[in-house]
Amino acid sequence: MSDMLKALKWRYATKKFDTTKKLSEEQLALLKESLRLSPSSFGLQPWHFIVVEDVELRKKLRTAGYDQPQITDASHFIVLATEKNVDASLVEKFVENVATTRNIPVESLTGLRDMLNGAVGMKGEEGAREWAARQVYIALGVLLATAASEGIDAAPMEGFDPEQFDVILGLTERGLTSRVMVALGFRASDDPATDMAKVRYAEEQVFTTM
Ligand SMILES: Cc1cc2nc3c(=O)[nH]c(=O)nc-3n(C[C@H](O)[C@H](O)[C@H](O)COP(=O)(O)O)c2cc1C
Repeated sequence: MSDMLKALKWRYATKKFDTTKKLSEEQLALLKESLRLSPSSFGLQPWHFIVVEDVELRKKLRTAGYDQPQITDASHFIVLATEKNVDASLVEKFVENVATTRNIPVESLTGLRDMLNGAVGMKGEEGAREWAARQVYIALGVLLATAASEGIDAAPMEGFDPEQFDVILGLTERGLTSRVMVALGFRASDDPATDMAKVRYAEEQVFTTM
């Protein structure tokens, strides 16, 4: 079996983390880099990732996260947020990044800017917000696969009150909103979820080949 498939079978949404085991600096850096490298539609990256290290903040987030213990008990905790407003300023920031990264004059990117503004504008305000949420879930998937391939446990969670999270983390004033969260670290030896069989539909139920 490929290493990747082995990792995907090994991973599960961890319910109980070992509070004594911590990710190394290298492991954290690798996981962060996997988020940064995630693909997004048009490459616009309408996201921001908040690594919450502060113990008191994590306690508050746990309260706003239906008291899920992973929020405080895992080695690390990351909130995946998106831009609240996907608009021309986001496009401008991206176009400037393209120019700088590829060392080309920003004036030569007028066509790209117009195309992106057209595409974003067509979505409407709410549609663009939903679009941004879809992009951050791609980053979540990349993070979960990376963690599994490195033998790092993860608990993706959307059971939380985003409005409270946004206030606690000061995201509202930064034009951001929280979408999904991930606890990362190492499973406790007595996590009851470790030995539960993975529940997935059979191949023929989820694939159609035409
Ligand atoms: C986007 C997302 C949100 C989730 N939210 C929660 C959550 O709030 N609490 C929780 O205990 N599990 C949560 N889960 C875990 C799922 O229940 C779990 O991934 C699913 O049952 C499949 O099991 P497995 O990941 O262990 O293979 C979430 C998973 C995903 C992908």
